[in-house]
Amino acid sequence: MKNIMITGGCGFIGSNFIRYLLTAPEFKQDMRIINVDKLTYAGNQESLDDVSGAFNGQYIFVHADICDRQSMETIFDKFEIDTVCHFAAESHVDRSIVEPDAFVQTNIMGTFNLLNLFRARKDRMFLFHHVSTDEVFGSLGKYGHFSETTPYNPSSPYSASKASSDHLVRAFIHTYAIPATISNCSNNYGPYQYPEKLIPLMILNAFEGKNLPVYGKGLNIRDWLYVKDHCRGIWEIMNRGIRGETYNIGGDCEKQNIDVVCMICDILDKMEPLKSDRPRRELIEFVDDKKLRPGHDFRYAIDFSKIQVELGWAPEESFETGLEKTIQWYLDHPKWVSLVQKKCGEWLRRHYKGEEPPRCCT
Ligand code: NAD
Ligand code: TYD
Repeated sequence: MKNIMITGGCGFIGSNFIRYLLTAPEFKQDMRIINVDKLTYAGNQESLDDVSGAFNGQYIFVHADICDRQSMETIFDKFEIDTVCHFAAESHVDRSIVEPDAFVQTNIMGTFNLLNLFRARKDRMFLFHHVSTDEVFGSLGKYGHFSETTPYNPSSPYSASKASSDHLVRAFIHTYAIPATISNCSNNYGPYQYPEKLIPLMILNAFEGKNLPVYGKGLNIRDWLYVKDHCRGIWEIMNRGIRGETYNIGGDCEKQNIDVVCMICDILDKMEPLKSDRPRRELIEFVDDKKLRPGHDFRYAIDFSKIQVELGWAPEESFETGLEKTIQWYLDHPKWVSLVQKKCGEWLRRHYKGEEPPRCCT
């Protein structure tokens, strides 16, 4: 690995991954990161302000769309790319329900474009690592876990587009023998997550004393993983994973949404009580998920024994400490928060009012 293209490196997990990599012991002086990002509403160069200058020469940013064949071809050759770690995607389920087109375009066609360019240069390539989600497996009932052999059964346009991209990666491994790996991970949380996803949205609303829109009765379950643990898992796979294999990554941390929201309320009440001294749990408002999230998956849970046994990976951060760190991070970074909220705040405002939102995912 010398010239690593990271797609979507200005997004939530991508920016955390770049920060992780630049200080990882295996990241050597002669290695370079080429961060390729379209800078959609979810992509912010400011998320890397602390590292982009400090690692000048080892970190390069290129503003480009992964769907644009010509630009991507130039980047592959100009920077002599030998490794790809592919994060770039449209990633929010609610948006995929309202405007699925961008999800099909970026998640499917964008991945296809990268795979084609990678295949054409296969001989000089080290690895294509594809970052995917557990949502490709669909929804679990009360029992059971997703393993690497669980059949795909995606429910939303987001998860269907990610499932499609996973299938393309597998087809390219099978048909063209490209060196590639895939990871399917559960819900991440941590610094730099766009405040449209459950945890950062609730942190910021609760901090400001705004309503906390919990879908349905808040009984749906997600398996939470601190983003740094996910980054470590991806890097392990890139270094020591077996070509052609898929690895599930999870947090062993199943929580009902309502419990997550109550934890956020209680931590914030301790850190920064509301002026009225009102407990923040009173801000919770149950909203009809048939309107905001039709087809709402009930439960996700990951069996990560394969990566644990084969690569020795397991989550390190507990949900309690990870959530406290995350809340503190959002309180400490008001500039970043107001910057990203300006970008597509109108979408969120109208979404929660049940109005037709503007198109942002373009
Ligand atoms: P994100 O929405 O925060 O960031 C996506 C990034 O991709 C942004 O920087 C955006 O500008 C960029 N991008 C979008 N379209 C692009 C295009 N056409 N060309 C180039 N760049 C483009 O997403 P995230 O939460 O960081 O997720 C990253 C990846 O991890 C995704 O593939 C997602 O499916 C996967 N994943 C996410 C989670 C999670 O909990 N967030 C869990 C498992 C897997
Ligand atoms: P989200 O963060 O959008 O991740 P995903 O749907 O991809 O798992 O949502 C996590 C859970 O939280 C999901 O069950 C939907 C729920 N949710 C709410 O209750 N209210 C909200 O405002 C949001 C964004 C999500």
